[in-house]
Amino acid sequence: MSYYITTPLYYVNDTPHIGHAYTTIVVDVINRYHKLFGGKTFFLTGTDEHGQKIQNAASKRGKPPGEHCDEMVLHFQEIWQELQIEEDFFIRTTMDFHKKAVQSCLQDLYDRDEIYSKDYEGYYCESEEIFYTEKELVDGNAPTGKPVQLIKEKNYFFRMSKYQDQLIQHIENNPKFIQPDVRRNEILGFLRQPLTDLSISRPKSRLSWGIEIPFDSEHVTYVWFDALLNYATAIGYKQPEKEKQFKEFWPECHHVIGKDILMTHSVYWTTMLLALGVTLPKQIFAHGWWLTEDNSKMSKSEGTVVKPLDVKDIVGVHGLRYFLTRDITFGNDAQFKTELVVGRVNTDLSNKLGNLLSRSTNLVNKYFAGKCPPPNITKESSKSLKILGETVAEEVREHVLNMAPQRAVETVVKLLDETNRYVDELEPWKAAKENLPLAGECLYNTLEALRISSILLKPVMPIKMKELIQTIGANSICSFEDSKKWGLLEEGTSIEKSEPLFPRIKA
Ligand code: ME8
Ligand code: MG
Repeated sequence: MSYYITTPLYYVNDTPHIGHAYTTIVVDVINRYHKLFGGKTFFLTGTDEHGQKIQNAASKRGKPPGEHCDEMVLHFQEIWQELQIEEDFFIRTTMDFHKKAVQSCLQDLYDRDEIYSKDYEGYYCESEEIFYTEKELVDGNAPTGKPVQLIKEKNYFFRMSKYQDQLIQHIENNPKFIQPDVRRNEILGFLRQPLTDLSISRPKSRLSWGIEIPFDSEHVTYVWFDALLNYATAIGYKQPEKEKQFKEFWPECHHVIGKDILMTHSVYWTTMLLALGVTLPKQIFAHGWWLTEDNSKMSKSEGTVVKPLDVKDIVGVHGLRYFLTRDITFGNDAQFKTELVVGRVNTDLSNKLGNLLSRSTNLVNKYFAGKCPPPNITKESSKSLKILGETVAEEVREHVLNMAPQRAVETVVKLLDETNRYVDELEPWKAAKENLPLAGECLYNTLEALRISSILLKPVMPIKMKELIQTIGANSICSFEDSKKWGLLEEGTSIEKSEPLFPRIKA
């Protein structure tokens, strides 16, 4: 079975902040889990480079838009590399193949009368790149509070209204299509009002930085129409030579976005696909926001951002990836504070995982000459630990399939907690002096719990967990199947004396 997952395409009006790193890291984690479970996966991320916002950002820097984008995209690519993001493709909406595919969609829709032209008057919110009707304004602003301006011009429209009922039906028949439920209900609520048609063009006199409309050289495409199509074009849509790849991954598609862009994805994108005759994706999952200390959304345009690499420098890539996956319930909002990241890393990684590893490997080196003791289960507590250990993998998988990565991680932490309790109970450092086989039993089972935990945390902290697996000599027993079995470590395997894997971080 194939699996396809996407992040939004981020605007290149500024460098990425924690919010962008968040979506990208969590999507990378989920994708790596799917890879671990087996099956073919495709992970797409990239940048949204057309439109008014970018044109303005470029002109502020005194650069032609193309040059501006070429420079800004490097920040995204470099930061993602630092954060161990392993995408299969990084799309830029200014790529030639994408522009051609978008034009082919426009022409197709125009030929079938799904697009028509009309003189138009509306309130345009530049920061959201969205038109509002007068009725939708709240105190003269966009519903989000952002300023709007009245614009009158000839526009091309997509017959979005035509697909309202079909969309409602699809959402009702597929409860997992829009998630979490609060977002699904929000969209169903929105769809109780009649849907208007969607303006999908901008006159070049006002905005030149966009994809030219193939049937009218005086207009460019609306940035959202162009950007949303990337999810299909990136894997081959409208490119005959890549048809096989498109068929392989579409519609096994999962869009992960922030709740700020729920509407464009749930309404614009879906109706565009219905008009194009393309099956709808499997899921649109809108997560919550990282908030600043005064509880407002961290935002580039507000200048209230935390830079991912600043946090990485304090807690390491693994610490940042761990915190972002573990600390927030996927879907909810939370405040971002560096102290919280440090606290979480110290509690879970240094105290629970790191300590367990150094305690057990040191004792194996001290009392068993660095060789894995024989497998043994004589104690009731060894038996319960084994039973728990053998169930963790399936539980992790369930949580990941339900888009609850934080619960997947919690499940592993539960095993680590139990293992720490087990070690405290059997006190192998004492037992080693009176009852060496008992110390061996305890250490063997501890190493097994560590092996299973490291396999199941590898998607979150790829490099650190690879090191851990290496330390306990488990390189050839670290597949997902191996994480379901207790007792695979062989007696006599060399166990390295480990350097602290997660030194405590001083706040
Ligand atoms: O909207 N908390 O791009 P964008 C959590 N180009 N996530 C956040 C966040 C925060 N405070 N701030 C941003 C666009 N994000 C369009 C998308 S898609 C075809 C086009 C994340 O640069 C979150 O994923 O404004 C959000 O949806 C996205 O960045 C918006 O990025
Ligand atoms: Mg935004």
